[in-house]
Amino acid sequence: MPFDFALKAAAERVEAYLHDTLPSADNKIAEAMRYAVLNGGKRLRAFLVYESAALFDVVDADPVAAAIECMHAYSLVHDDLPCMDDDDLRRGQPTVHVKWDEATAVLVGDALQTQAFGYLAGAGHLDLLRRMADASGVNGMVGGQAMDIAAETAATPLTLEEITALQAKKTGALIRWSAEAGAILAWKDPTPLGNYADALGLAFQIQDDILDVIGDPEATGKRLRKDEAAGKATFVSLLGLEGAKSRAAELVDAAIDALAPFGEKADNLRDAARYTISRAA
Ligand code: IPE
Ligand code: IPE
Ligand code: MG
Ligand code: MG
Ligand code: MG
Repeated sequence: MPFDFALKAAAERVEAYLHDTLPSADNKIAEAMRYAVLNGGKRLRAFLVYESAALFDVVDADPVAAAIECMHAYSLVHDDLPCMDDDDLRRGQPTVHVKWDEATAVLVGDALQTQAFGYLAGAGHLDLLRRMADASGVNGMVGGQAMDIAAETAATPLTLEEITALQAKKTGALIRWSAEAGAILAWKDPTPLGNYADALGLAFQIQDDILDVIGDPEATGKRLRKDEAAGKATFVSLLGLEGAKSRAAELVDAAIDALAPFGEKADNLRDAARYTISRAA
């Protein structure tokens, strides 16, 4: 299946599942949760879950894909808060704290996080659940977000090594969890998929940083040209635009190489790596 069809199919599948299983919108928080999760998004993390599951013939990955999309959506709702990146637009629509208020956005993030663990508990795989706790917590996404915020006011700019460590946590950890999920579910060695995801995740965040500089606001659905103004440490601030592009391209090659053990079965994952740096959104 061509990559764009496969990505679209993954998006439709996880959205249908989320639509049916998220709490019904009979109160403000539940309504805003549904808004935050179902308001678009590329669903790359759900796609990685489905594709890695397919490598190991795991068929029922819907709760796992739903879990990562809820965790990711929570990270975005909080990332956009005034005390974080202070953004008013996400996926082409007003952010949760703009459409409702800040307290609602904080609570929506909190509730989406517990929703994610609820889905994983339903999936019944304790190791995958524990890995989600690690990937999203202080040694994962939250830790990376804290480093990102701290870097804004750091006396000296981050080194390449520091920025790589920051991005590996901020964006990399959840992407890695997604790509490893199939192997974990099947009790198989996740190392090749972990290597793939480490390179892919970094390339993905580099492209996010590049799009902040040269992207189209219409396509990305978010405010751009904000990182430099906020003093954000990014690969572009450190390597320049061309340097960042070539680093991302090297990482895509590394990601593709890591999939060698899987042969043709991993072609969609190879295409996902290429898409990571060619995407406009
Ligand atoms: C944006 O993630 C935030 C980062 C971690 C770089 P995505 O670009 O995957 O956002 P959506 O889900 O498609 O909106
Ligand atoms: C967001 O990174 C990372 C997480 C939400 C964990 P950014 O702050 O660069 O993402 P955008 O550009 O707002 O989507
Ligand atoms: Mg941020
Ligand atoms: Mg942001
Ligand atoms: Mg960004």
